[in-house]
Amino acid sequence: MIPREDLRAHASAILYRIGAAATVAEVDRLQDEALGESSPITAARRSLREATPDQKRALGAIVNEVTTTLADALAARRSVLAEEERIVRLAAERVDMTLPGYRPERGAAHLVMQVWDEIVDIFTGIGYTVAAGPEVETAYYNFDALNTPATHPARLESDTLYVDYGDDPEGVLLRTQTSPVQARWMESHQPPVHIIVPGRVYRRDAVDATHTPVFHQMEALAVGEDITFADLRGTLAYFMDQFFGKHTRQRFLPNFFPFTEPSAEMHVSCHRCDGSGCRTCGNRGWIELLGCGVVDPNVLEAAGYDAGRVSGWAFGVGIDRLAMIRHDIPELRFFFDADLRVLEQFR
Ligand code: DAH
Repeated sequence: MIPREDLRAHASAILYRIGAAATVAEVDRLQDEALGESSPITAARRSLREATPDQKRALGAIVNEVTTTLADALAARRSVLAEEERIVRLAAERVDMTLPGYRPERGAAHLVMQVWDEIVDIFTGIGYTVAAGPEVETAYYNFDALNTPATHPARLESDTLYVDYGDDPEGVLLRTQTSPVQARWMESHQPPVHIIVPGRVYRRDAVDATHTPVFHQMEALAVGEDITFADLRGTLAYFMDQFFGKHTRQRFLPNFFPFTEPSAEMHVSCHRCDGSGCRTCGNRGWIELLGCGVVDPNVLEAAGYDAGRVSGWAFGVGIDRLAMIRHDIPELRFFFDADLRVLEQFR
């Protein structure tokens, strides 16, 4: 039987330490020490089981009294400390809403993709369909179906990147132009045709200010009954005015492409000086922009069309070149260097 004095001494020592406890965690530890399994109070409570009724009466009252006192003191101290700790925590977590925030860097479409989207918009707005084809292409679609003879210099390995594929080393290549999609589309669609083909193309060029081995083109093709060079001119005039956002003039100089006859290169009046001569146009007033022409009957026939019944026009334009000219960018390389100081100016 534990003497009642010991219980009181135990209780008052713990009470003192409860008053001095500095953290909720410390109060938890004291709770265990004061009233837990191995505390004298628990031992006293256990001993009551074998006690006589008299002993029970005397010790039981003390055990209850001490238990209540300690439990109350622990609860009171815990609530004071918990509140203090809450205040400290809130102060530490305080956010100053007047501080300037950290603005995350916002990404943006690359200028070449912006121009790509714009010209697609211009043409889908007048009813054209966007077509696509493979970048790894056969020599048949890239050249033969486009009336390009086996002896044409563009087919040389010095100009075209061939892909080592099977036993026909001359048969598979990285397309050098978006034109092969003309042939692919006509093979699987009946006229009338009104398509545009934006896409990546590849050439075996060394990198310099105006050449990179990969760049972007957009092909356009219109085929139907009675389609003439006049339709091509009207369409290009509309395209140029929309793209440069102002009235422009076009002129057409004779040229040669295997897939068009007649073929022309189109020049546009300089959007910056309106033709009077400036740095952008190299003082010429005109800018050479694209190749075009009336689709050669051989191309129509190779695709299975009746060249006696339908005719068409086509053009191919460099998307990167359009972007460089409109924004006065001197180096094609800027588009591929991914230097944010350059690209950030166009977002
Ligand atoms: N494919 C030609 C090139 O890459 C551009 C071109 C010229 C496309 C005339 C055409 C065209 O459709 O009719 O240089």
